[in-house]
Amino acid sequence: MFEKEFAEHLGCKYALGVNSCGSAMFIALKIAGVKPGDKVLSNAFTFTAVPSAIHHAGAVPIFVESNDEWGLDVVDLERKVVESGAKILLMSYMRGHVPDIDAVMAVVKKHDLFFIEDCAHAYMTSWDGTLLGRFGEIACFSTQSSKALSSGEGGILCTDDLEIAAKAILYSGSYEERWNRHHGMDADMMKELQNQIPGYSMRMSEITGALLRPQITRLGEIHKIHQSNYEYLESLIGDHPNIRVPQPFPKAEYFCDTMQFHLVGLSREQADQFVVLMIQEGLGIQIFGIDRNARDYRQWAYLDGAEKVDLPATVKNIEFAVDLSLQPHLGHREMDVISDVIHDVLDYLING
Ligand SMILES: Cc1ncc(COP(=O)(O)O)c(C=O)c1O
Repeated sequence: MFEKEFAEHLGCKYALGVNSCGSAMFIALKIAGVKPGDKVLSNAFTFTAVPSAIHHAGAVPIFVESNDEWGLDVVDLERKVVESGAKILLMSYMRGHVPDIDAVMAVVKKHDLFFIEDCAHAYMTSWDGTLLGRFGEIACFSTQSSKALSSGEGGILCTDDLEIAAKAILYSGSYEERWNRHHGMDADMMKELQNQIPGYSMRMSEITGALLRPQITRLGEIHKIHQSNYEYLESLIGDHPNIRVPQPFPKAEYFCDTMQFHLVGLSREQADQFVVLMIQEGLGIQIFGIDRNARDYRQWAYLDGAEKVDLPATVKNIEFAVDLSLQPHLGHREMDVISDVIHDVLDYLING
């Protein structure tokens, strides 16, 4: 029932519950036909789970630069497609930031890429009125505890393609005739594929599905709360001389459950101190491009030479990028408090 309802929510034909978004991406890569040593294009600015899924599938990530607004840099994407010859794009909407999807799709079509969307941070996020997760062959969502749809752990793989859905069910681990429990499967196709595909035991449990069902209907309401809080907070801090909140493309509508901004005019030491003082004030923020942050590609030492790849634009875009989570139980009163704390901390750092 959860799978059917999530598919209806997204507007796709099939949704498969799995045990994590990492598993969904791994399965998506297997379905895309990734072989050991193949190259997969992906954002340099993403969470370590994404290159980990590529690594898990035995492939090698080709990192694409991010733009000032933390989306994929489409000019660099095309350059890397041509240079690497890679045929698969696994693109994250990191913190719900959306690149120019029209331009991405033009590159995907021109070079005939298999496009997998990582929508872990992109619930109810749209481009020109179409929800993200509807552009690729496969979209992957996370229901891990910090995500908008949360069950502690979990993931969802979405597609319009019956054969992809059938293969995903089998890769996730479906033996005998248990595929019957998923909606819309074709018995002949399942019988034919059943023993061709290994089962990696990445299923979602029924209890997890039950936890998630009522949350789907609440997403719209939560989206409105987030948008209202985000707009209000932006009006309070957006004009600060040491803060720059990059603006999304006009066609993009964000979920707004987190806010990111660049700190400007601060030294490295001051920016690091900003994090320490904000945490002392009770606001758990982070800067992406600092030591041990799992979203800084230079930290992913498990990839041979990842830290040695030269991606100056991505480094520039994460170095002073502050990440702030906005929970849906907060309102404008709390946004006032957050704004006051940010103003006070910056005032202290600049003026002493
Ligand atoms: C951008 C992004 N993609 C994928 C994932 C992986 O999600 P999961 O923890 O469900 O595997 C995460 C996890 O936080 C993420 O931040």
